[in-house]
Order: sequence, then C-alpha cells, then structure tokens
Amino acid sequence: MNKPIIAIQRDHQQLSSKRWQSFSTRWHELATQQGVTTLDVDIFSNSANWLDQLKDCDGFMWWFAQPLSVSRPGRRLITSLAHLGKIPTFPNLNTIWHFDDKAAQSYLLQLADIPTPATWVFWSKSQAGEFIESANYPLVLKLSSGVISKNVELVHTRRKARRHLDALFDSGMYALPPANLPWRWFVRRTSEAMRVFLSKPTDEEFHKGYLLLQEFLPGNDFDIRVTVIGKRAFAFRRFNRPGDFRASGSGRIDWDPTRIPQDALLLAFRTASVLQTQSLAVDVLRRNGQPVIAEISYYYEGWAITKCPGHWELPTHASEPVWVEGPIQPEDAIWEDFVTRLDSRLNR
Ligand SMILES: Nc1ncnc2c1ncn2[C@@H]1O[C@H](COP(=O)(O)OP(=O)(O)O)[C@@H](O)[C@H]1O
Ligand SMILES: [Mg+2]
Repeated sequence: MNKPIIAIQRDHQQLSSKRWQSFSTRWHELATQQGVTTLDVDIFSNSANWLDQLKDCDGFMWWFAQPLSVSRPGRRLITSLAHLGKIPTFPNLNTIWHFDDKAAQSYLLQLADIPTPATWVFWSKSQAGEFIESANYPLVLKLSSGVISKNVELVHTRRKARRHLDALFDSGMYALPPANLPWRWFVRRTSEAMRVFLSKPTDEEFHKGYLLLQEFLPGNDFDIRVTVIGKRAFAFRRFNRPGDFRASGSGRIDWDPTRIPQDALLLAFRTASVLQTQSLAVDVLRRNGQPVIAEISYYYEGWAITKCPGHWELPTHASEPVWVEGPIQPEDAIWEDFVTRLDSRLNR
C-alpha cells in the first residue's frame, strides 16, 4: 500500500481567548505515529523552494486563522491548488472560500436553501438608504468579517442606522467602535487617523462601501455552536454576555450534551452535507421556534471542541443522530479524514 506524502504549513496562532493553537504540530506527531511522511512547509521563510516541494506531495494542509497575514496567502494558495485539481487540500475550497465573510455566507446559505435570519447586503448607498427609511427596528448590523461579536451590534433606531450608513459608505472603518463608548464615532475616526499616522500594521480588513443588516431574533439567551467534521458533530451552548444579545466570545459555555436539541444537530449535518465541507462550525439560533444558522466558519478554538464529552454521528440521512462517547481533538478528526481520503486516492 502506498503511503501519502503530506505537506503541512506551520500554524501557530494566538486565539481571541489568548490561548495558543497549532494544529500542524499535532499533525506531524500523528504522522510519525502512523508512519506517514510529512513535509514541514513555511511559506513565510526566506527559502523560496516551498512551491517546488509542494508539487511532489500528495496532499497539503494549512489551518489558517482570520488575521489577514495568514488568511490572505492561505486562501490564494488553496484556491490555486483547487484550480489545478492535482492534490487534495485541507481546507478545500468549499470549506474556506466564504471564511470570515458574512456577505458571502448570506448569499451561499440563501442559495442553498439553508434557513437563516433574514439578511440584507447592500452595495450602494442609495439602495441601503431607502431600506433604512422603511425598515422595522431593531436590526442587527454586522461588518462582513470579525470575531467574538466585536463587529456585531443592535441598531434600535432609523437615526442610528443612518449614522452607520454614513460611516460605512463615506469614511469606512476597520472595526465597529464599542456601542457604549461616549463620542464613539469621534473616537473611532481619531484612532483610525492615528493608525495611519503611526503606520501601524493591521491584520484586519477595512470595511467600506457596503451595509449588512440582519433581522434581530429575540429570545435567544444562547446560541448553539455545532461543529461538523466529516461524519461527526460536536456541540455546546454559548450563553450571552450579561445584558447583551451576543454569545460569541462570551466564554460562558455549557458542554452538557443532553441540552442539545436534535433539530439543531440535524440542521448542522444538513448544512455540512449540502455545502460539502470538511470542517464547519455553525451558530444556531431560533426563529419562531425553528433553528436557523446565523454564521458559518471552518476555523474555531480547538480546545472548546476537545472539551465536548463525545460527539454525534448520522448513520444515514433518514436516521437520528447517534451519540458516541469520549472526547476527540478536532485536529485528530481532521487528520483522520484527510489521510483516509489520500489513502483511498493513492490505492484505488
Ligand atoms: N440575527 C441575530 N439575532 C439575534 N442574535 C444574533 C443574531 N446574529 C448574531 N446574534 C448573536 O450575536 C453573536 C455574534 O454574531 P455572529 O454573526 O456569530 O458574529 P461573530 O463572527 O463575531 O461570531 C452570536 O453568537 C449570537 O449570539
Ligand atoms: Mg459567530
């Protein structure tokens, strides 16, 4: 039996929770245990031959995060490999092209008939302005990228919506200023001017020329984070920050599997299957009692998945999810699926 050679780009990422995460370290470890040859690639090193080395490999893996310094090269490299179709990659294109891009996700999920909160993305100021005048409030305003809820805010009035519209179509912004900050728009303009003046590097996207609004779903004290890796679904509940409608980044997690409703699991399984993704974390909220998906992401903080006491599997599309006891690290699950895929490709 032929064993694959897998190129792995180093990742070493500090997460929003301040923990450090490196899936590549674990993947090399698993490879050694299983007699799989890996190639340690670093596209940020000064040696230029990593592109040539890639051509001789059977697969490529890179667990890149949101910061532009890694997601920009990561997306381009994965897209180039997908374009040529020579070697499988983790992540593949279906898994990442919409990563950290809520505008793209809103198109994708609606076109795929996956239930979501009603979402409007406007690319012209007059079109957005017209909507704002006739809309019902509150509405949720989101920048297209951002994590731990920092670019998500509740807009209660038409006047506040107009303020966002002006800011997003005229000056633009790296991030939403905190909602309760006095003089928030003035502070934001000043801090952005300082950023330019001091030539400060930024790992964030600059947002200008669009407006993304979403229907507000009241009564959700938590969201359910379901992560589907291959045939497995891991799930936990994340409670909102006190006095806030936002859960992401609150750190208030409940891992009790008996509190996870089956309809949320089935929706997550269906979404991963329709989108054909290798790793997909979904945020599930309720709209009139029914589960909907507010956001999708291939990347997550791995430790929170590892803390799940087990996972669910779906034997067939018509069956019920089956509980499988015992924790699994997400990087191990990703590795297992990827090596199995390469093995069957090499030995068919
Ligand atoms: N349409 C909505 N209605 C009510 N709450 C929402 C809505 N969208 C998001 N939320 C809440 O806000 C949090 C952050 O939103 P999300 O779009 O997931 O942004 P992030 O990328 O920062 O996780 C979610 O975890 C959820 O609790
Ligand atoms: Mg989210």
